[in-house]
Amino acid sequence: MEKEYILAIDEGTTTARAIIFDHSGKKVAVARHPIEQILPNPGWVEHDPNALWNAVQTTIATALIDSGIKPAQIKAIGIASQRETTIVWDKETGLPIYNAIVWQSRQTAGLANDLIKAGYKDEIHQKTGLIISPYFSATKIRWILDHVDGAQERAEKGELLFGTVNTWLLWKLTDGESFATDCANASRTMLYNINTLEWDDELLKFFNIPKSMLPEVKSNSEIFGVTKNYQFYGSEIPISGMTGSQQASLFGQMAFEKGMVKNTYGTGAFAVMNTGDKPALSDNNLLTTIAYDVNGQVKYALEGSVFVAGAALQWLRDDMRMINSTPETSDAAKASTSKDEVYVVPAFAGLGAPYWDNEAHGTIFGITRGTTDNDLIKATLQAIAYQTKDIIETMSSDSKIPIEVLKVDGAASANDYLMQFQADILGIQLQRSSELETTSLGVAFMAGLGVGFWKDLDDIKKNYETGKIYQSEMDDSVRQDLYAGWKDAVKATMAFKH
Ligand code: G3P
Repeated sequence: MEKEYILAIDEGTTTARAIIFDHSGKKVAVARHPIEQILPNPGWVEHDPNALWNAVQTTIATALIDSGIKPAQIKAIGIASQRETTIVWDKETGLPIYNAIVWQSRQTAGLANDLIKAGYKDEIHQKTGLIISPYFSATKIRWILDHVDGAQERAEKGELLFGTVNTWLLWKLTDGESFATDCANASRTMLYNINTLEWDDELLKFFNIPKSMLPEVKSNSEIFGVTKNYQFYGSEIPISGMTGSQQASLFGQMAFEKGMVKNTYGTGAFAVMNTGDKPALSDNNLLTTIAYDVNGQVKYALEGSVFVAGAALQWLRDDMRMINSTPETSDAAKASTSKDEVYVVPAFAGLGAPYWDNEAHGTIFGITRGTTDNDLIKATLQAIAYQTKDIIETMSSDSKIPIEVLKVDGAASANDYLMQFQADILGIQLQRSSELETTSLGVAFMAGLGVGFWKDLDDIKKNYETGKIYQSEMDDSVRQDLYAGWKDAVKATMAFKH
């Protein structure tokens, strides 16, 4: 019999990837394709849904061609995607009625602020585990229905469908036959009740969103549909794993035990803690979300999102032109001779957890006539680590679980300066996964479990290898001083509203 593989699709904010894994969890093919960012107005971020689909098709073809693996050797497909990003399309023609409104986009900030002012914060938090924010899908759907001519009426007639990117890709791969999502992606829409595990009728009524627009919600590991042969190079392959990118990397890091935490350093940085069988609500503005539902076990998580992490390094490269490539930042930071007096607060998309300030703009503090590029690069890397510390400390106090180890992954986790400073400023151990593509690996595991390619969690645990470990080397008094400076910088940033 020919060897079988799992294909993981990771459709992220800036890149689409297709990665093929073998039974030992090793990747045998990787293809990437950039995603064009459409920025129609300040603070708005959109994608062309058809470009997302084309990027995914291109990466699948490239991964298959480069590896020589035949489509029929793919035992199952898993889809991990950027979460929250909202697509509304016509059920008959399959054509989107507006661009995909990306999770980072602020065009619904006004609506979110109105809901907060009107006093809905607690009710929405209890039902969905979320903080009212333009980040989540509900206000984005409302915006599309309000701004596209006739959309509300068409939605009420059952002519329109809503999906996050996973649902859109599933619908395309099955040529409209499967219209479904998974509970982890559903838990990011602000329309899904994480206690009853159903779409919440009251919230749907409140947002005036017809239920007929919404996909069926499934677990993370079961058959969601089968590819149409003309959409997958002549083969009908089950799609048996689906989740959001951050839940996928939690799974890929094998954080199956209560209290385990991972942080993924991508476009943003997302720290997620497995909190076990019951939803634990945060007192300090962290999100409660579904970690995964696999083999009949639903696990919950606390999450803190830093909106701008790797994106700040892209800003240094593309806009400030201080570097040619983001990995250069590690050596540049090591070459800085400043005494850590410069603070960059990269609030380019407001501030996420635990501050949730939609209006904040980025700031720089502490510069002098002698400040150099290297100093600013170092301060930008440090900002990623400080923001992560804000979240990890909040997580520990909300969950009452001390965090002694942070599992890390994502592109910027390869940055040696950033990882050492992160361990130092947290004062704990960092364990980098040997496979940095943990998002793809996690959803590949879900898909494989869904078709019996792997038996159970113990079977996949055999495939995990820890990579480099970073120990904290900083004196406690230095750590406290530096962190106090960061807190002052954030306070001043939030006070600056012009
Ligand atoms: O919540 C947004 C998050 O899912 C973004 O994912 O894959 O672009 O880092 P990604």
